Amino acid sequence: MSIELQIQQLREQLNRHNYNYYVLDDPSVPDAEYDRLFQQLKLLESDNPTLITPDSPTQRVGGKPLSSFSQITHELPMLSLDNAFNAEDMSEFNRRIIDRLKTNESEIEYACEPKLDGIAVSLLYEDGVLVRGATRGDGSVGEDITLNVRTISTIPLKLSDKGYPKRLEVRGEIYMPKAGFETLNKRALAQGEKAFVNPRNAAAGSLRQLDPKVTASRPLEMCSYSVGVVEGGTVADKHGDILRQLKRWGFKLNPLLEEVSGVEGCLSYYERVTSLRDTLPYEIDGVVFKVNDLALQKQLGFVSRAPRWAIAHKFPAQEEITLVKAIEFQVGRTGAVTPVARLEPVFVGGVTVSNATLHNMDEVARLDVRAGDSVIIRRAGDVIPQVVSVVLERRPKDTVSVEMLSHCPVCDSKVERLEDEAVSRCTGGLYCAAQRKEALKHYASRKAMDIDGLGDKLIEMLVDLDLLRDPAGLYQLKVEQLAKLERMGPKSAENLVNAISISKKTLLPRFIYALGIREVGEATARALAMHFADLESIMKATEEELLEVSDVGPIVAKHITSFFSQAHNLDVISALIHDAGVHWERIEQTDVTELLLAGKTWVLTGKLELMGRSDAKNHLLSLGAKVAGSVSAKTDCVVAGPGAGAKLKKAAELNIPTMDENQFIAFLQEQGIEI
Ligand code: IVH
Repeated sequence: MSIELQIQQLREQLNRHNYNYYVLDDPSVPDAEYDRLFQQLKLLESDNPTLITPDSPTQRVGGKPLSSFSQITHELPMLSLDNAFNAEDMSEFNRRIIDRLKTNESEIEYACEPKLDGIAVSLLYEDGVLVRGATRGDGSVGEDITLNVRTISTIPLKLSDKGYPKRLEVRGEIYMPKAGFETLNKRALAQGEKAFVNPRNAAAGSLRQLDPKVTASRPLEMCSYSVGVVEGGTVADKHGDILRQLKRWGFKLNPLLEEVSGVEGCLSYYERVTSLRDTLPYEIDGVVFKVNDLALQKQLGFVSRAPRWAIAHKFPAQEEITLVKAIEFQVGRTGAVTPVARLEPVFVGGVTVSNATLHNMDEVARLDVRAGDSVIIRRAGDVIPQVVSVVLERRPKDTVSVEMLSHCPVCDSKVERLEDEAVSRCTGGLYCAAQRKEALKHYASRKAMDIDGLGDKLIEMLVDLDLLRDPAGLYQLKVEQLAKLERMGPKSAENLVNAISISKKTLLPRFIYALGIREVGEATARALAMHFADLESIMKATEEELLEVSDVGPIVAKHITSFFSQAHNLDVISALIHDAGVHWERIEQTDVTELLLAGKTWVLTGKLELMGRSDAKNHLLSLGAKVAGSVSAKTDCVVAGPGAGAKLKKAAELNIPTMDENQFIAFLQEQGIEI
């Protein structure tokens, strides 16, 4: 076989493997085989340099760094999109289209795609070969980033299949997947460099590199969403069909593409994608709807810089600017004195935020946040709102930096910070009303003693009125006392006393958890209960004995012995058990290593619709399994509900068994667990 033919065949094979890997997400050969073919091609090319062409898979990274980017005028302007923020905006959009088209059809067909949060790019192919890549710029003039886009594996250097136009401009979004972003930032921090604020900035920064080697080292992907220039050939006459054509020609197509009918279809798509959002491996900031029929698109045309036939239905912003009115300190259950930013209320991530924890003084110093500052607040998914950064340009003149208090704002005891801890603590213990309130809230909470109707506000009131000092006091509360309280009638007072009384019958793990020992969460409480089987043994256990429990390390062991060495804790426990009558059924001492799932690691992902995450986790723990947050080669099984994304995919890649929620429930029932 001639060298030319060998080279051609190797390139074709490599392009096919690339396509299977990046576009179809379905690798056809092991990485090692790909590397072998790649090396073979490299060798042939270096022996025959005249045969190297720019579309060869070996030529993704090449050349010297640029000294600047040159400008490119787009042959067709790159437009932007109008936004819709709610169902009403969507209805208006749909109405405008129907009116303008004067159509009799009541339902327009829309193509729906997620709105990827990255950077728009234009890629020009001539005779199927990538000749130019450009940023959107101002829509008319962008920058030539050809060398950089060539390094991105999901961008074909050469189109595959047949039938593509002689000149074809493909447009799409370059973005950085969440996982790649995390890794990149970890690496940057480890090397003492600055981290990127979010994946979008990281993608933009990575494309703006004059040295394509830097871009090549960044985890970027591209997904196509439209075509621009089409010459010497045609594309399909429906938007959805064009995207599927692009997939055949070698581009990654977003798997969430759907064609729906009418505004109802759009709104239901929006809902579905909203619920998937957190599980997607990349960031999106909304969804995009486009009239699917190109003839209709043409009829509708454009207004200023946006098409009339498309709209972006945005999610509520996840970042907003607001004002810090004050920085105050809150005292928690374990005495931790936490700085909290009191904010001018701001709507972000779908809720109104008026407070944001600043965690500790190291964080306050890192942000250098002060009262009077404007700050960027971020709230993504169910995560608690965060102060991302201070907008320094907006800082008023006479702000002062924040100092930790020397005395507790609630009980005036001294505040101390241990050398190896990030937090400062009030030394008042249960003398401090704030700590008492938090301890009581914890005791009554759902996963602890689960006292129905005993909310946070009520506990605060009871402590403030000195009707309640500790958990044992709960069982002495009288209906007459409670009935006199604000917003409490005789009926609800009676209900509450009943609920408190019902809580006397409990389970040992719940009781241990309810005590609020530092670092003893639900899982540790359960492990302690199974290991020792009774409370007296836990109370008497030495640090060494505690270390034998699967979930207990040296720090937790210290917290446990220290808790049980304090006289007032022993008094409260004795009052709870002997005076109030808190009790539980005896349990068998269990050697956790003998449980069915001992030593196994399970992962829960997606929405568990029938039982919820926390119950699912508890059942697994009771069978001795560990429940981990991410899938790795050490995972033994993945339970995946609807909306499962990257974790489920990874499990499939690693050949890890998976089950859906129904199979999981059946499995639990087989183990004698009642659901
Ligand atoms: S269509 C004429 N589709 O959003 C239509 N844009 O605000 C132009 N974007 O600059 C764009 N995902 O960078 C379209 N599925 C998608 C998109 C998308 C993200 C970006 C794009 C554009 C901006 C418009």
